[in-house]
Amino acid sequence: MSLLIKNIKELIQVETTPTAYKAGAQMRDLSTIKNAWLLIEGNKIKDFGEMKNLQTSADEIIDAEECMVFPSFCDSHTHIVYYGSREIEYIDKIQGLSYEEIAKRGGGILFTVQHLRDASEEELFNDAWQRLETIKQYGTGAVEIKSGYGLSTKDELKMLKVIKLLKEKSPLTIKATFLGAHAVPPEYKGRQTEYVNLIVNEMIPQVAEEKLADFIDVFCDRGFFTPEETACMLEAGIRYGLRPKIHANELDFSGGIQIGTKYNALSVDHLECTGDEEIAALLSSHTMPTLLPGAAFFLEMPFAPARKMIEKGLPIAMASDFNPGSCPSGNMQLVLTMGCVKYKLLPEEVINATTINTAYAMDVNKELGSICKGKIANVFITKPIPTYQYMPYSFGDNKVKTVILNGKVQ
Ligand code: NIG
Ligand code: FE
Repeated sequence: MSLLIKNIKELIQVETTPTAYKAGAQMRDLSTIKNAWLLIEGNKIKDFGEMKNLQTSADEIIDAEECMVFPSFCDSHTHIVYYGSREIEYIDKIQGLSYEEIAKRGGGILFTVQHLRDASEEELFNDAWQRLETIKQYGTGAVEIKSGYGLSTKDELKMLKVIKLLKEKSPLTIKATFLGAHAVPPEYKGRQTEYVNLIVNEMIPQVAEEKLADFIDVFCDRGFFTPEETACMLEAGIRYGLRPKIHANELDFSGGIQIGTKYNALSVDHLECTGDEEIAALLSSHTMPTLLPGAAFFLEMPFAPARKMIEKGLPIAMASDFNPGSCPSGNMQLVLTMGCVKYKLLPEEVINATTINTAYAMDVNKELGSICKGKIANVFITKPIPTYQYMPYSFGDNKVKTVILNGKVQ
């Protein structure tokens, strides 16, 4: 089965030689072809070119009618398996309570833990499925999903089994991350070391045995897990084949970035507190610095120094962090806008940060993240838009018209 998209006003993020990611000044490079066609065969990108050179036909033809084609967004950091919402806490936040104060009152992550423990796998699956449907329509074609609202062996496995089922049933490419160290559960209050031991000795071996996760995550930050505890859990994860991808430096200069790079994390995420030492650690690593502007916006935190990081030569990825507490939205188009407005990134930089660089941050860059021959055909056709710069500029409504995943119109 082949599919030809013709009369594309501009084909965005084209690569002839695939790159792993774009860093520093390369983040401004965005290859495009004007008046283009794109040929998909089966689930892969077969070829592309300019309309004036089009010589091929296909089983099915879509006339893009002068709209643009982008590679689907890769959202490399989400927590979309959850139950219940947290708008009450949102009001507390409006009235001035900090993230940590809310957490100390038993709100925050632990509120969602209670709801998730009470929910069935089916209820969790159905709610997460709806969220996947929504983000798909907004142009996301690959998503990483974390556990971390179970915080007991049974409930962490329950969450990961739901993610496994989503992987099997959804057309989106999904990666699973084990985040048992998201917070200390109430039954381990005051016994944090014992909880870390439970993660190391019981949870990680079982998660690995049942092949339920691709990566391991730890919330390494002030008030959550220390760099020493993080190191201990990452070492255990690595012994079982789980590469780290961690939450770091959101609340403080916590040492999380240095621990992440030391253990060859695929990504370190949040990074609001990033200075020269952290930049130096990142520069000598293969770790993708991943920023989550939606969470910084929603929590009114200082924004990560993205401009400085790029000027020092680093790559930047941007993901949604979709979760009920700090970012109840998985709209990657909004992430583009926030990247431009709050980090002062250029449209080319935010497009790279949400496609090829997030593909790297979830280890799918060989298959996704750009329009490149042989990659999986996850693309979207836009509504009529004048320029690709319009994508971050116009915010609030959906600019995606048609979604194609694995070569199939959704
Ligand atoms: O990425 N920082 C830690 N975890 C989530 C928040 C999860 C929640 O509040 O439920 C985050 O922002
Ligand atoms: Fe997160």
